Amino acid sequence: MIHKTIIEPFKIKSVEPIDMSTEKERKQFLQNAHYNTFLLQSDHVIIDFLTDSGTSAMSANQWAGIMNGDESYAGSKSWQKMEAAVKELTGHEFILPTHQGRAAERIIYGYLGGEDKTFISNTHFDTTRANIEFSGAEAIDIPIPESSDTSLIHPFKGNMDTDKLSQIIIDKGAKNIGAVILTVTNNSGGGQPVSMANTKAIHDICKEHDIIFLLDCCRVAENAYFIKHREPGYENKSYKEIAQEMFSLTDGSAMSSKKDALVNMGGFLSLRDPELAKECTNLLIITEGFATYGGLSGRDMEALAIGLEEVFDADYLEYRIKSTAYLGNKLHEMGIPVMMPIGGHAVYIDAKKLYSHIPVNEYPGQALACELYVKAGIRTVEIGSVMFGKYDEKGELIPAPMELVRMAIPRRVYTQSHIEYVIETFDEILKTKNDVKGIKILEEPEFLRHFTAKFAPVDVNEKVEL
Ligand code: F0G
Repeated sequence: MIHKTIIEPFKIKSVEPIDMSTEKERKQFLQNAHYNTFLLQSDHVIIDFLTDSGTSAMSANQWAGIMNGDESYAGSKSWQKMEAAVKELTGHEFILPTHQGRAAERIIYGYLGGEDKTFISNTHFDTTRANIEFSGAEAIDIPIPESSDTSLIHPFKGNMDTDKLSQIIIDKGAKNIGAVILTVTNNSGGGQPVSMANTKAIHDICKEHDIIFLLDCCRVAENAYFIKHREPGYENKSYKEIAQEMFSLTDGSAMSSKKDALVNMGGFLSLRDPELAKECTNLLIITEGFATYGGLSGRDMEALAIGLEEVFDADYLEYRIKSTAYLGNKLHEMGIPVMMPIGGHAVYIDAKKLYSHIPVNEYPGQALACELYVKAGIRTVEIGSVMFGKYDEKGELIPAPMELVRMAIPRRVYTQSHIEYVIETFDEILKTKNDVKGIKILEEPEFLRHFTAKFAPVDVNEKVEL
């Protein structure tokens, strides 16, 4: 018999209680958090979809690995295990452990960046862009045009526009390109996958112009799932073989292992070029730690090596991708405008469409994130003009291309009944949508403003205590 219910392919051995709260309490909690979901306390959250990063449940095997962690300063057994696992996956010769993705980014983009350099990506994640811009370089996003039409069905909406890539290289001059960075899956572009054909085309262009090609590979296993099921010629390859092929086309990678390595903390940089690896290792030692632990404990490296194996398990990936799609497709059927097709790690809601009465300079995405929290204790994040908006010389908002709200699903954490609770909440979101007001920014930092900015509803006139 073929079952239509995809069950979680694990049993629960250890549980963590959720603190329940009322709508009235949550209104207060949200006000205390200045209407910024990053400033909420986690014990005031019922379903935490803020991020899939570092929020995975580790397996019994990984917890056993934690006890086996070798905490030697240099050359620990756990490092050897992690290095071997990363080398086997990436095929890259030089592996640098870091405490998380952005530490790897700071090292590589700090080194390759600087004034007059340009980096090109399908979409730079916010920390990637921040590290590049912090070095004085510019970061250009060139996703394929189809990527910004949220309702359009395309198998690989995360692809990079290779015509534009060639053009930018010619315009800027190849020697001024710091690197080309392919983000898989394309997180900020809706969690959409990138095809192998696109990766090959980028590889060829970079080779022709002698430009470094790097993979931002946080969700490379999820991307491999889509390739196997959507790209002709990959049906009979294993998920890991697909990922290995993708890495084989690149000169290096940066990974936040808090995603597809199923750990709570960890990351790495992998490189082919010995000179580049030497320079980056020097920076690693100055800022992260010695070359055989970076910013990690032995036990972290142990869990990371095990997680990197587990994530390619076919039953796990089937459950992971299908359960994300279950939530997204249900919302789509209800008439909630979601980014289609559903991506790997998250469901993205098009808040500009849902709240068409709220102008972009009143941040419809932030308004929806606040609504979801007040109605049901669901914590999400705005991925729109709060995260990526800029100001022109007159101080007017230059909006982001899309106003999305991301519901990122932690790996192996929530069950189907949690997901049903979320789906139910959207009935109410639909019913009350016309009453929802926009949001204004009261205070913001210069970089990565979404983390700490303070907001208020537009109709709140009295000065909010800061
Ligand atoms: N690259 C991508 C594509 C990411 O999604 C992230 C993190 C990073 C790099 C940075 O890694 O957090 O370990 O320093 N994304 C998280 C998210 C924060 O919620 O999507 P990090």
